[in-house]
Amino acid sequence: MKETSKPVHAAMDAFATAAGELHVGGQPVTRLAARVGQTPFYAYSRSLLRARVAQLRAALPPQIKLHYAMKANPMPAVVQFMAGLVDGIDVASAGELKVALDAGANPAEVSFAGPGKRDIELQQAVAAGVLVNVESMRELPVLAAASQALGLPARVAVRVNPDFELKGSGMKMGGGPKQFGVDVEVVPEMLAWMAREGLAFEGFHLFAGSQNLRAESICEAQLKSYELALRLAADAPAPVRFLNLGGGFGIPYFPGEQRLDLAPIGANLAALTERAAADLPQAHLVIELGRYFVGEAGVYITRIVDRKVSRGHTYLITDGGLNHHLSASGNFGQVIRKNYPVAIANRMEGAERETVSVVGPLCTPLDLLADRMELPRAEVGDLVAVFQSGAYGASASPQAFLGHPVCVEVLV
Ligand SMILES: Cc1ncc(COP(=O)(O)O)c(C=O)c1O
Repeated sequence: MKETSKPVHAAMDAFATAAGELHVGGQPVTRLAARVGQTPFYAYSRSLLRARVAQLRAALPPQIKLHYAMKANPMPAVVQFMAGLVDGIDVASAGELKVALDAGANPAEVSFAGPGKRDIELQQAVAAGVLVNVESMRELPVLAAASQALGLPARVAVRVNPDFELKGSGMKMGGGPKQFGVDVEVVPEMLAWMAREGLAFEGFHLFAGSQNLRAESICEAQLKSYELALRLAADAPAPVRFLNLGGGFGIPYFPGEQRLDLAPIGANLAALTERAAADLPQAHLVIELGRYFVGEAGVYITRIVDRKVSRGHTYLITDGGLNHHLSASGNFGQVIRKNYPVAIANRMEGAERETVSVVGPLCTPLDLLADRMELPRAEVGDLVAVFQSGAYGASASPQAFLGHPVCVEVLV
């Protein structure tokens, strides 16, 4: 008979454990909590960030430029650290642009994408000298006017809404009707406008989707994006110097998910780099990643403030939850709620185990960090760690909701 085993989380072994305690940034988590001075907090590891960039550099061809999509984690210290490791930063607002420039990012290697860019944001982008990934015809005259007023080039690329989507993606940002990018059918008209008005055309941006763990789907999207850009380049007013093939590299959050295999993606990009050398000799190929850089390098730490049994079911109630970590609660885009990997950070090797739910302090059943999970027996005062928390954590959570204290973020 075929054995059916329950799906489990991928091993969370990037953070060391010693004497039964999780270590973050080389410190036992209880000491780190004392140093931070409060729970809850997020901690991000410099050494894991560095290792992740090195792993990508080793797996992908050296010609590929790695851009950090800072929406995944805009903590200024993280952005500054990443700016020193990657080739460029992708921003999604003037607020993010400020953080990137403060962090020392080279404006020549900063790009700005996003629907609904306000006029003032487009003017700031021209003044900063960054590349604007244009997503609407409305942006064009604003950019042209800013360029004229400032006496500076408006550096532009076209963000294309392709006629395909990234298969197997957690979130799709291309294909069909979308608020992102310019429908491929409209791109020639936009290119003609750019040529007529003298905008400084530099290339194309295609972002099909995110949180994909299937290398073959990512390779397929990269190939289709490349071929589409090549077709569009025939109408371009200047040689393509920048071709952003998107990203979408996922990380394992839920039971049964495996880490992405980078080897086929490396081989695919090597083939595309070779083709680009002949087809688009001035073009740099760019990959734009958020969570893949930072997601696995962060943990959320929250303290147990109560232990309650309700009709036989044990609840560990923590001092933070959905208000700081919306995505771990299952309310940031998940269709079916599943548990993130969770541990009792100061009882990593606890032998006595029990099935519990870990819930935050908010008055809503949505505030759930772990639903019926088997964990070492824990008491009030113990620390809960939520792994895979370096991306879409603090900045993607409703921190003011119900008036609890905001969380702290540290880079260690
Ligand atoms: C244009 C763009 N770039 C990058 C990202 C980052 O995605 P991820 O963090 O999954 O790599 C997103 C995600 O929404 C995006 O829309």
